Amino acid sequence: MPISICHVVGARPNFMKAAPVMRALASYSSVRQILVHTGQHYDVNMSDVFFQQLGMPAPDVNLQVGSGSHAQQTAAIMSQFGPVVTEKKPSLVMVYGDVNSTIAAALVSAKLGIPVAHVEAGLRSFDRTMPEEINRVLTDQISDLLFTPSEDGNRNLAREGISADRVHLVGNVMIDTLVRMLPHARVPDIDLPPRYILVTLHRPSNVDDLPWLEQLLQTLAVLSDHAPVLFPVHPRTAKALNDLPKRVGAEQVRLLEPLPYLPFLALLQKASLVITDSGGIQEETTFLGIPCLAVRENTERPITVEYGTNLLVGRDLDLLREAAHRILGGEKKQGRVPALWDGRAAERIAEIVSSR
Ligand code: UD1
Repeated sequence: MPISICHVVGARPNFMKAAPVMRALASYSSVRQILVHTGQHYDVNMSDVFFQQLGMPAPDVNLQVGSGSHAQQTAAIMSQFGPVVTEKKPSLVMVYGDVNSTIAAALVSAKLGIPVAHVEAGLRSFDRTMPEEINRVLTDQISDLLFTPSEDGNRNLAREGISADRVHLVGNVMIDTLVRMLPHARVPDIDLPPRYILVTLHRPSNVDDLPWLEQLLQTLAVLSDHAPVLFPVHPRTAKALNDLPKRVGAEQVRLLEPLPYLPFLALLQKASLVITDSGGIQEETTFLGIPCLAVRENTERPITVEYGTNLLVGRDLDLLREAAHRILGGEKKQGRVPALWDGRAAERIAEIVSSR
């Protein structure tokens, strides 16, 4: 009996997670795959360019839901994904990460009796003010197969009563993509200083709080006296920056358009320091051994702090400045790469899924 798998992606961080899984499953003749894009992210630089660079097939279905409140976005995905599942009748729906597309697709599938596999299961920040934390907890509860990137994920799932026979520790699929693409990383077409700080910020807790965003920008401007600051700006952040009454610091910081995968990877690899609130970038810097300061009070990826090069600076701007000065002065935390972050996580997933 052929197995038909429906992969659902929607937002930028989903694409580099689904790509290696689809690739690994393509070598199984018993597996048919379809790809659904919810359209949560739709700008060329947030979506299409990733499909091209990662060598992903064009989606079979694009739900084109676009932006909206969490309720609107989640509801739109659910109401449009339902008929797709009913028509295609997949034997398994695979969802990725923790975005609204993840929970929406999982919920529809579970209620239609279609088994759900969650890639990147078990991560917990224990902070329910983060929309992603709600998405993680709920998706894991209704998934039949849970693929974790690290041991802490298995422990979290056990604590939430999820039976161990549904959980598989496979490693980190995002690192699979990084390992495959690293030789192709190319520096973007910008005037690149020999030493620089790379910044990304997009979490609502940082960018929707305008007075705080202003303080962060001023701190980055101060740091730019020590090393140029390059800041590719997410659309959510771009809107917030436009809403700032004063953009003190914006002239010193080099604000860039969102970057495609390969140029961003090249910038990451050569950065002296990364300042971010992204989950994925905390993992990528850990793998690459690049110092990372996370402007977050908690992380669902504690392994990047325990093993990796990551330090949480929370909302303490003095700590951010001091830690940045130390790192730029050559004081580097020696990290190590967690087990199973070896470029082969998707192969392990494909083996499990295809033998069901
Ligand atoms: C979403 C995810 C977040 C992930 C992030 C990566 C949820 C709850 N959040 O956050 O976990 O880290 O993606 O980028 O799913 N916009 C555009 N063009 C686009 C996409 C968005 O202009 O292609 C703008 C819209 O104004 C939109 C805003 O960005 O309202 C936010 O987009 P949305 O998908 O709601 O959340 P993200 O902040 O991107």
